[in-house]
Amino acid sequence: MPATLAILDGDVMDVAQAQIPVTDDGLLRGDGVFEVARIYGGRPFALEEHLERMARSAASLRLPFDTDAVRADARTLIAAGEPDEAMLRLVVTRGGRRIGMLETLPERPETIALQTVTYTPTRVLDGVKSLSYAANMLVTRIAREQGADEALLVSPHGRVLEGPTTSFFYVLDGALYTPPLSDRILDSITRRALMAVTDAAERVTTTGDVAAASEAFLASSLREVHPVHAIDGAALPQVPGPVSTAAAAAVREHIEASLARTPAA
Ligand SMILES: Cc1ncc(COP(=O)(O)O)c(C=O)c1O
Repeated sequence: MPATLAILDGDVMDVAQAQIPVTDDGLLRGDGVFEVARIYGGRPFALEEHLERMARSAASLRLPFDTDAVRADARTLIAAGEPDEAMLRLVVTRGGRRIGMLETLPERPETIALQTVTYTPTRVLDGVKSLSYAANMLVTRIAREQGADEALLVSPHGRVLEGPTTSFFYVLDGALYTPPLSDRILDSITRRALMAVTDAAERVTTTGDVAAASEAFLASSLREVHPVHAIDGAALPQVPGPVSTAAAAAVREHIEASLARTPAA
């Protein structure tokens, strides 16, 4: 995802100029927090929710965090870059650096194939969007080695959790479900929106449930609703099915209503 423009500790600059010391523990130990928000027509969706989650992540890590400064960075960067459709990455490191970047939206196939990969959530980092995302990046590589597009994380006890950067939804007997937050997945902003605008319910989810699903999709700020066409090599019967299509439309309407209330930067 090529970055175009950056802001470092409040100063806007070309992304190539944005550099931090190699001694920063954000780099050396993945000690820091991040968020990725989507920008639609120049306006960020759910920036306040992203800032709130970032502040919670920082509090969990005992990382000093200045919400007002990060919000001001986001606004300044958007005003300077005037992006239309883009993603906004926000990072705060243990070394005390505040980083923001505008990046182009990644291209993705319309539907994707998932491969389950065993994953144990790190209890102390539950709900934290920390820079320690190497495991999340690795599971996608493992899934690709097995011929799928992305990973679906499953606990050692067989509980389906989420994607490495997405929430997971599926349809069973016509009803829409998503694994529960109590299974220590990320409190995703898109997941929350979907649960508000659809009848989706939390459900402890096994690999057997997923094998019996008629539809499935991933959800995230960048993707909204991203239909899944196969899991572990088995094709899903409906791609995208009616429940997924309705959920995608409902969440898009929710986003548009929210953007209409969001002032341009
Ligand atoms: C592990 C994980 N789950 C779910 C999501 C989706 O969260 P959101 O809808 O807030 O973008 C993300 C986002 O990056 C994530 O990293």
